[in-house]
Amino acid sequence: MRAGEPLLSLRGASKSYTLGGNVIRALKSVDLGLVRGEIAAITGPSGSGKSTLLNLCGLLDTADGGELLFDGEPLPAGDDVRRTALRRQAIGFVFQGFNLVPVMTAHDNVDYPLYLLGVPAAERRARVQEALARVGLQDLGGHKPDQLSGGQRQRVAIARAIVKRPRLVIADEPTANLDAQTASQIVGLMRALAHNDGTSFLVATHDERMLPHCDRSLMLDDGVLQGGIHAH
Ligand SMILES: Nc1ncnc2c1ncn2[C@@H]1O[C@H](COP(=O)(O)OP(=O)(O)OP(=O)(O)O)[C@@H](O)[C@H]1O
Ligand SMILES: [Mg+2]
Repeated sequence: MRAGEPLLSLRGASKSYTLGGNVIRALKSVDLGLVRGEIAAITGPSGSGKSTLLNLCGLLDTADGGELLFDGEPLPAGDDVRRTALRRQAIGFVFQGFNLVPVMTAHDNVDYPLYLLGVPAAERRARVQEALARVGLQDLGGHKPDQLSGGQRQRVAIARAIVKRPRLVIADEPTANLDAQTASQIVGLMRALAHNDGTSFLVATHDERMLPHCDRSLMLDDGVLQGGIHAH
């Protein structure tokens, strides 16, 4: 697949939650196209549906209606086996608030997705070292999360997301609470991965510093997404 080719396509996706008898319409018929090697930012106020949209695109949750294609392949809500396999192999996640396992070292946190994929131990060691080096933490693999700074923890989370060489990285507020220098390192790393490896990024962010470095910025407002489809 070449740069500029569609990786993810979401059409007419809606999602409602029912809570205490109330129905919350979190996403209202959202259309979104993401191409290979592209960094797209999703902005919008708190509660506008950003995390909900990321969960659908990351195959962590299913829409109530609409259609999702990954690399041209339709992924209906009922196809759990294929969705799970694809999520493990092709999608990396950077969650709001790191989500590192506290009792595991940085090395073991980054290793875990490869372990789940059944990658042989020698190859895992090499790839974990490579991912840690890419985020500038090659010497800190033995540290546990509470022995690292906030920025270093976020870099471990990014190393964990990219170690399996995913085609898509879903990142929820990856630079929130980071100082300017660390935030700019994170953004530079994303740009390098998008450019060199063709990795696509879908990033929910409130961070104004990030937006100039993204290829597109899309606004969610009360579950309605503006400009989700490329103008050709
Ligand atoms: N599991 C859930 N059950 C019920 N309602 C939910 C659930 N998850 C989200 N919502 C509701 O759906 C709407 C969208 O939430 P979402 O988390 O997607 O917003 P967000 O844009 O990510 O907000 P933030 O910027 O605060 O992270 C909100 O009204 C929220 O309260
Ligand atoms: Mg959110």
